[in-house]
Amino acid sequence: MSAFTDGLMADRTVFVAGGTSGINLGIAKRFGELAARVAVLGRNPEKAKAAADSIGAGALGLSADVRDYAATREAMEQVVAELGPLDVVVSGAAGNFLAPAAQMSANAFRTVIDIDLNGTFNVFRGCYDLLRRPGASLIAITAGQAVNAIPLQAHACAAKAGINQLVRVLAMEWGPEVRVNGISPGPISGTEGMARLAPDHDAREAYYARIPMRRWGEIEEVAEAAVFLCSSSATYVSGTILDVDGGSQLGDASRGTAAKGLA
Ligand code: NAP
Ligand code: COA
Repeated sequence: MSAFTDGLMADRTVFVAGGTSGINLGIAKRFGELAARVAVLGRNPEKAKAAADSIGAGALGLSADVRDYAATREAMEQVVAELGPLDVVVSGAAGNFLAPAAQMSANAFRTVIDIDLNGTFNVFRGCYDLLRRPGASLIAITAGQAVNAIPLQAHACAAKAGINQLVRVLAMEWGPEVRVNGISPGPISGTEGMARLAPDHDAREAYYARIPMRRWGEIEEVAEAAVFLCSSSATYVSGTILDVDGGSQLGDASRGTAAKGLA
């Protein structure tokens, strides 16, 4: 059950890049439930429209590629024209696949860096003068790959590590008027990301054992963290990466448990 009250985000305009499916759509929906004006953006226009319809009347579904600064900026200008200055901007567009570095093409590596890291710069840089300041809140959706080296994830690890540092630098530079934070979800049920990283039963079982809370998270649990970071309960929180991961950042919880009969 949520700790947040109805209407909490009334009169706020929220823009979610990559908000047309999965975790980011869940975040957009939660802000919409709390009475915010919401816009989501993805590459596929039909998917963006369906996402906006699922959020509710008045929500905008826009299409642009976050790798394209001008197109991303244009979309955000449209949001401001239709919904008002931006109070909350979430940058969550990402691409991922499992691939060994020795077999990954330069374009494959660049593609993920471009979507995740350059895309986050484009979204945050592009929105800067469209924000309602002071009081605006930016959130980057990062991942445990930012701090844990994971085989077959050279591209995602490099991209998400860059995002974490970008969050910190922007919090420094924009600090007086804008709070900048990240959310690092652990494995989240029912998402494209986990369908790619743990495509079969055995892979999923191995994940459960390694997580201190022994379960995957729910999209709604990440959305609650996003609301917290933008709420009046977090007005002195900036430059932090909030792990919403059941303790996963602590390491492998299965290590040694079998030997002690604790598995
Ligand atoms: P998802 O459903 O695949 O969502 C990706 C979103 O980004 C979609 O709206 C997609 O729409 C959009 N997108 C992708 N490339 C884009 C581009 N170049 N330009 C604009 N939009 C683009 O993914 P998810 O699994 O929910 O993950 C969401 C976020 O959480 C990602 O940042 C991911 O790294 C992070 N995360 C996920 C997990 C997990 O368990 N799933 C764990 C840790 C972190 P289009 O395809 O139409 O463009
Ligand atoms: N293994 C190795 N290389 C791969 C790959 C895989 N599974 N999937 C794509 N690539 C390579 C391609 O071969 C291409 O390299 P090349 O030109 O040297 O052949 C490069 O990556 C770009 O692929 P392309 O399909 O042109 O990129 P895109 O911009 O159309 O799509 C992706 C981007 C590849 C990240 C695509 O998976 C995507 O759109 N993902 C969004 C959804 C997602 O990943 N959700 C989870 C978020 S955590």
